[in-house]
Amino acid sequence: MGGVDDTSLTEKSAATNRTSLWGARFAGGPAEALARLSVSVQFDWRLAPYDLAGSRAHARVLAGAGLLDAEELGQILAALDDLEAACAAGTFRPTVDDEDVHTALERGLLERLGRLGGKLRAGRSRNDQVATDLRLYLRDHARGVAAALVELAEALVEQAGRHVDTATPGMTHLQPAQPVTFGHWLLAHVQPLLRDLQRLRDWDHRTAISPLGAGALAGSGLPLDPVAVARELGFRTSFANSMDAVADRDFVAEFLFTTALIGVHLSRLGEEVVLWTSPEFGWVELDDAFATGSSIMPQKKNADIAELARGKSGRLVGGLVGVLTMLKGLPMTYDRDMQEDKEPAFDAVDTLELLLPALAGMISTMTVRADRLVAAAPEGFSLATEVADWLVRRGVPFREAHEITGRLVALCVARDCALDEVSDADLAAVSEHLDPSVRDVLSVQSALAARTTPGSTGPGPVAEQLAAAADQLTGWREWAAEQVVPR
Ligand code: ARG
Repeated sequence: MGGVDDTSLTEKSAATNRTSLWGARFAGGPAEALARLSVSVQFDWRLAPYDLAGSRAHARVLAGAGLLDAEELGQILAALDDLEAACAAGTFRPTVDDEDVHTALERGLLERLGRLGGKLRAGRSRNDQVATDLRLYLRDHARGVAAALVELAEALVEQAGRHVDTATPGMTHLQPAQPVTFGHWLLAHVQPLLRDLQRLRDWDHRTAISPLGAGALAGSGLPLDPVAVARELGFRTSFANSMDAVADRDFVAEFLFTTALIGVHLSRLGEEVVLWTSPEFGWVELDDAFATGSSIMPQKKNADIAELARGKSGRLVGGLVGVLTMLKGLPMTYDRDMQEDKEPAFDAVDTLELLLPALAGMISTMTVRADRLVAAAPEGFSLATEVADWLVRRGVPFREAHEITGRLVALCVARDCALDEVSDADLAAVSEHLDPSVRDVLSVQSALAARTTPGSTGPGPVAEQLAAAADQLTGWREWAAEQVVPR
């Protein structure tokens, strides 16, 4: 769905009189300051296609209830189609006088149908409408976010495939800890994305409940069929409680939690790319098309995409906090505070739709300096654990093995040498349990090859992990391509 992306407002309604969905009991029009505060059409106009889908379903239900005859239904459906085409073409636009998307579209319908256009409002309220529209919008766009996540995950998987046995220093506390394969490291960034995809699908299942038919809060006295409307709009079923249906914004908060967590995951990946591309690491070189320069320092090549990934996580987390804080303490049922739910939700979608393709391109085109990774892998005594494990295999309790290895490392620090450079005599001096055959485990390749258990960093388990991730991503690609909102 699309075609309503330009949210600039036109000056005046084509109709001579301002369309309002309320006002008969008021002595005059709204104060300018109120109107300016209240208006949401500049951001909720993007809900138009979903509002129109809801209107089509509602018209059919009104006809089913005998409240529209066949002729009226036909005219209304044709007018809705025409209005939708006009919205998509940009020939129908919201004006400064339209309070929100619902007002603008009712004006469009009245312009096309005259008095008959006023029949569609029976049995529904903007309260159930806006909750429905936003569910539809987010369910639709969750698929777009998922597709972009899959693309990034696939870029990581592809790079990982090139480095299934490229050794690199694995870190804790940003200090060399134990050697790992770079493929394993890249796949460690894929797992969170796979969980994010699961979160989106779980969220989608809970969000597939239609609020239409709840009316303002009490349900409807007209013989409507909320379940039929729900099915027509691609929901699983309709609300259980009309008050909750219009008051509930859990689906927005949960969506924003998911996007905030995605932001956090991307920021961690971004931070690592910043580190990897720094001259201090020198592990990765970005493709020119995915790096930026400096306006004053000609030599600079910066990882701005990675930094923006880090930076944009701030607004994604902020959106979640804003909506939770807005919802906190709201009395049942609809409160106007809830109009504030939309901008953070739209911003989260826009942010990820912008960021994810850039990250995917950056990852898939970057050059990994495998020679440097391999050279760095044994640095910082990253094979010390191998010595301790070697002692354990010889029956030494790990507690003692740890101490012996610690003394060996201290000796190396004092001598400024590597673990495998310690003389036979010095080995024996550190512990009676050490002998020259310990050098057999002091190679990065043997350390990696020893890690054969599922999920470990050895090339074998990494190849299995890689295949499993690629397989799952194929499934997610299909899910992301599902059409939720029927056209
Ligand atoms: N623009 C409003 C919103 O986004 C629509 C619902 C208005 N309902 C009302 N009773 N004023 O929340």
